Amino acid sequence: MSLHVIILAAGQGTRMCSSKPKVAHTIAGVPMLTRVVDTALTLDPAAIHVVYGFSGEALREQFQDLPVDWVFQEKQLGTAHGVLKALPACESADHILVLYGDVPLTSTATLRCLSQDVSDGLGVLVTEAKNPKGFGRIIRDEAGHVQAIVEEKDATETQRTITEVNTGIMYAKADLFRHYLPLIDNKNAQEEYYLTDIVGLCVQGNRAVSATKARCEEEVLGVNDRQQQMQLERYYQYQYVLTLSKQGVTFMDPRRVDFRGADVVIGQDSTVDVNVIFEGHVHIGKNVTIGPNTIIKQSRIEDNVVIHANSMIDGSTVSEAAQVGPFARIRPGSVLGKQSKVGNFVELKNTVLGHGSKASHLSYLGDTTIGKAANIGAGTITCNYDGKKKSHTVLGDGVFVGSNTSLIAPLIVAGNVLIGAGSVITQDVPEGHLALSRSEQKNKPRHKEDS
Ligand code: UD1
Ligand code: CA
Repeated sequence: MSLHVIILAAGQGTRMCSSKPKVAHTIAGVPMLTRVVDTALTLDPAAIHVVYGFSGEALREQFQDLPVDWVFQEKQLGTAHGVLKALPACESADHILVLYGDVPLTSTATLRCLSQDVSDGLGVLVTEAKNPKGFGRIIRDEAGHVQAIVEEKDATETQRTITEVNTGIMYAKADLFRHYLPLIDNKNAQEEYYLTDIVGLCVQGNRAVSATKARCEEEVLGVNDRQQQMQLERYYQYQYVLTLSKQGVTFMDPRRVDFRGADVVIGQDSTVDVNVIFEGHVHIGKNVTIGPNTIIKQSRIEDNVVIHANSMIDGSTVSEAAQVGPFARIRPGSVLGKQSKVGNFVELKNTVLGHGSKASHLSYLGDTTIGKAANIGAGTITCNYDGKKKSHTVLGDGVFVGSNTSLIAPLIVAGNVLIGAGSVITQDVPEGHLALSRSEQKNKPRHKEDS
């Protein structure tokens, strides 16, 4: 049985007041169109057709990596017209599901219910709306059978009081769409070809129409303006927090944390303080403490790690029981070993800090490999860039770097070396040596006028 999905995304989205196409706007960091396509993919369709129009090729280009076919609808004459445009591409389809590019949070479970409720007829996904304004209303007869969908602008006063509304999402055998879509006209208040008119036509043709209720209103809410976008953003974020909290994670304030982009996994007994942002794939282990105002992006944080306030971790791994921050910046390619420590105002880039090693204050460590149990003094700077190329620094196990040291890369400092504070180290240092490059101190008697 071959399922084809048609996603309507040709409209302008005027009310977003944006130069970007509406479906390119994001919910939790992911464009709405990508979300809808991802949901469609969970149903294992034979093909997905995106009907685009208003923003033209720019939209296609932006989403060229999506596994979809593109159907150009030059003039947006209505939702029925949009689906009709896509029908020739659905030649091999047994069933067709119609989704909207601006309805981003529909669950797979609900779409499965919709298709299961349909045998030979048409399935419409409906919901109870707190505020039904703007939606098509579901008209039922006395026996409760769906008779028609009436658009707000065509509805009578009485019909407008109905709170059961059309989500726009429909499912039926492809033949049903092939038969009825060409019969739809545009004799209505908006002079548009309404997809919703297919319901009345099915009733006339004695084809069953089933109405499946969405699990909640939010999962079928469309985004027409920024306010609705914000509303769905907050809904999504709160649901994410609830899911993780059920798995044993504590959030100090469920409304002050954001998940952007892909999946975030957080282990049991971890605590997330306020204003924490997770971006992209993030894996957090068990019993991890994440301090306030922290940003963690594309990173792996292992069990028992403590991240203090105002830290940024990007593209890196923080191993078991390590400590980070406050005010630490861990840039891509870094690995903090077990029980290591990166303290305040320390920046790491593409740097490995070995087991138990510490850089507690005010340092820049770039393109550096540091062994175990090393101590990096305050103000240590790896000079990894000569204006043309980046070079590497290696510090062996047990190295002690005195404060305010410049390490001029490329440089290899072997194990158990002691570097005196204030040194500028330009040459490799052999195992177990003391390295010191400090101008000699002179003590002179003070002149009388200085006292
Ligand atoms: C539509 C439904 C309404 C439903 C509501 C749910 C119709 C006639 N009405 O109304 O019953 O309650 O959705 O949100 O279907 N589009 C195209 N080509 C077109 C016209 C629209 O691709 O020619 C796309 C839009 O980009 C959008 C979607 O179809 O993604 C819905 O169109 P829109 O104009 O927003 O319909 P509504 O008035 O919201
Ligand atoms: Ca809409």
